[in-house]
Amino acid sequence: SERAASTTEAACVVFDIGELVVGPSTDDSSETPLEIRENAAVAAVDGEVVAVGSSEDVTREYPPENAETAIDAEGRAVVPGFVDPHTHAVFAGDRSDEFEAKLRGAEYQEILEEGGGILRTVRATREASDDDLLANLTGHLETMLAHGTTTVEVKSGYGLDTETELRLLEAIDRADDAQPIDLVPTFMGAHAVPEEQDTEEYVDAVVEEQLPAVADQGIARFCDVFCEEGVFDVEQSRRVLEAGAEHGLTPKVHAEEFTRLGGAQLAADLEAASADHLLHAAEDDIDALVDSGVVPVLLPGTAFGLGEAYADARAFLEAGAPVALATDFNPNCHSRSMGFAQTLGAVEMGMTPAEALLASTHNAALALDLDDGTGTLREGAPADAVVLEAPSYVHVAYRFDTPAVDGVLKAGEVVHG
Ligand code: NIG
Ligand code: FE
Repeated sequence: SERAASTTEAACVVFDIGELVVGPSTDDSSETPLEIRENAAVAAVDGEVVAVGSSEDVTREYPPENAETAIDAEGRAVVPGFVDPHTHAVFAGDRSDEFEAKLRGAEYQEILEEGGGILRTVRATREASDDDLLANLTGHLETMLAHGTTTVEVKSGYGLDTETELRLLEAIDRADDAQPIDLVPTFMGAHAVPEEQDTEEYVDAVVEEQLPAVADQGIARFCDVFCEEGVFDVEQSRRVLEAGAEHGLTPKVHAEEFTRLGGAQLAADLEAASADHLLHAAEDDIDALVDSGVVPVLLPGTAFGLGEAYADARAFLEAGAPVALATDFNPNCHSRSMGFAQTLGAVEMGMTPAEALLASTHNAALALDLDDGTGTLREGAPADAVVLEAPSYVHVAYRFDTPAVDGVLKAGEVVHG
């Protein structure tokens, strides 16, 4: 080789970065929760970050001319790829008419009680072919990628019978292989009570039939439950989550969305990975979650779409919680944009753009128990990054029309832009 002995070949180098968000700040006296570097570079080999630092130092060791992919990011910001830790992205059918009904005053839970809402999506999903379910899901993922998302949790839960729940998890698994975003599958058989069964009977079916089959199939990593008045009470939720844990699935809880029922305390008790929604969480709930290390996942898109009061993000942040944001993408909350979640976090929930970005990267990865550096651009982390079409990360929350995304890297490869 003609190269100087001290230089190394990198698969990917992003250099002259105007502003690089590396991850959470490790400096307690810092006024921003983010570690930010100017005039920086990142190099990746085999999908992982191998060097991060000043552009001068990194490019001396990893010259851009030797790299497979070299991106000059002068005047632009680079941030970790967004992690969306709560979606219901695999489904069929349309519920836009329910949006209209809700605007005329219909309540979400009322629609569900009358066989609409989730149950309507269940009917459409059961009828859809495997290929249609896969095509729907990959279509949504393409949009998410264009918005800078590189890791997405996807829940089953529109099957509500063993066969369809397994088909949904299978679609998630196939979609994981079919496109660049990494998918984290969650089994959510306890999403609603199907029309053909009563609640106790259905909880038995989830515990005795669905969970063993899901464990056998071996795709799901988490088990989630809609702990809500009129859906699953705390004891029923506990039964499902404890049975899930026995099958190796880590608990997650839809908690305190419409009523304060006790889902947050349950999540704390079971040391769930996350408690999600939390619109009606009280101070005790916040303390319990913080004490047990459960990540609060806030879903401002849902509150926005339903015209509900937002979760109290400031109370969680002041209690020291690693607040995460997610889209909650589903037929009742049609947003696939983590950028828009950050806009709502900032404008409606009083988060700083830096807190919202941290909530959409590092903290969102925590909600998925990902401890390989996902959501950061530190050495050893997956080289998942967004090159912004902007000089600062602030533009992610600031712009709420089209995404402030110039390009997306997944495992060191350009996958968008
Ligand atoms: O997280 N709240 C329960 N599940 C979803 C909504 C699903 C639906 O309405 O289809 C949520 O918002
Ligand atoms: Fe949800």
